[in-house]
Amino acid sequence: MPKMGYNNYHMDIHTNIPLKNYTTMKLGGPARFMTEVRTSEEVAEVYRNAKTQKLPIFVIGGGSNVIAKDEGFSGIIVRMRIPGFEIVADDINSTTIKVGAGEEWDSVVKRAVDMRLSGIEAMSAIPGTAGATPIQNVGAYGQEIADTLQSVEAYDSREDRLVTLTNDDCRFAYRHSIFRDESIGRYVITSITLKLSKNLPTPPFYDALQKYLDENNIQIFTQEIIRNAVIAIRSTKLPDPQISPNTGSFFKNTIVENWQLDALRAINPDIPLFEMGDGRYKVPAGWLIEQTGLKGQLLHGMRVYDKNALVLINESATSYNDLLAARDEIIGQVRDKFRIQIEQEPLTI
Ligand code: EPU
Repeated sequence: MPKMGYNNYHMDIHTNIPLKNYTTMKLGGPARFMTEVRTSEEVAEVYRNAKTQKLPIFVIGGGSNVIAKDEGFSGIIVRMRIPGFEIVADDINSTTIKVGAGEEWDSVVKRAVDMRLSGIEAMSAIPGTAGATPIQNVGAYGQEIADTLQSVEAYDSREDRLVTLTNDDCRFAYRHSIFRDESIGRYVITSITLKLSKNLPTPPFYDALQKYLDENNIQIFTQEIIRNAVIAIRSTKLPDPQISPNTGSFFKNTIVENWQLDALRAINPDIPLFEMGDGRYKVPAGWLIEQTGLKGQLLHGMRVYDKNALVLINESATSYNDLLAARDEIIGQVRDKFRIQIEQEPLTI
């Protein structure tokens, strides 16, 4: 097993590692090299070495929002393992925590909830690591990471230095940030800093959450009660990746402009439209897929989940190409019916 490093760092580099073992979709060919990082210095070191050897790098956390191709990756896959959970500020209304990028996200949520802090409790039971949450601006049940994130620390591979990016610098939008757009591949997030509130969660809650609370006669809202409610709802709509390989929502919800509404309502007057507050509307991609009749169907070994059409489960697919065929079939059918182009949500390695 080759080593690389200088000073006191010596990282193990593994070769020819099947990516299907490191992605929750359980697909993908070999990574030429794979290593783990536990400090920001190690991140910098891997990048310097990769630059010398002209190797591309891709950083993964839990592998729950990435998919890998059959040809694999002919560079270095870096598994983010930087630990840490510390209180960096505290006042009468809030507590600010700094979390290592490699921490398991749900354990961070649980710790915050146990400390009676609000702001991320609705993002319970989301698989993956803390450092991955800003990349696609992870969100669920009315909260998104952009709401509480103060800053991230990152290794800037272009400038070869550690930087702090503010919330504004990240340019968050729905399932979007600079990290998956103009700066893709440039920064490696090493920690995230979240400012959480000491207040109890307050309504109005996200529709599906409110419905659950009503149905269960819950009228007192603590962080723990909201967390438990979200865990219960998610378990009915999102398959456990440990049991059924998947990446959560496989498609993003579509954003449409005001002028498109009439044409869409002409196709189906019942089309659900959620106002975004900026004159645009979010159309649930799960609903669009359901309308094509594909919900519950098996396409090229990929199951369109019968409880949530936004989720694709790898039931018997043997290759990334199977997934691509299923994806394109779904995108095509939605396009044919609604003239809407739905987009893949997970990143491709
Ligand atoms: N819907 C259907 N059919 C379906 C699925 C959904 O008609 O098969 C309709 C629902 O009836 C509802 C609307 O679509 O009116 C929205 O559904 P839901 O509230 O369940 O949320 P979603 O749009 O399916 C999004 C996120 C989830 C997040 C939930 C809850 C995206 C791409 N997905 O799903 O995030 O947990 O809201 O906030 O924005 C993820 O990104 O991986 C993810 C799981």
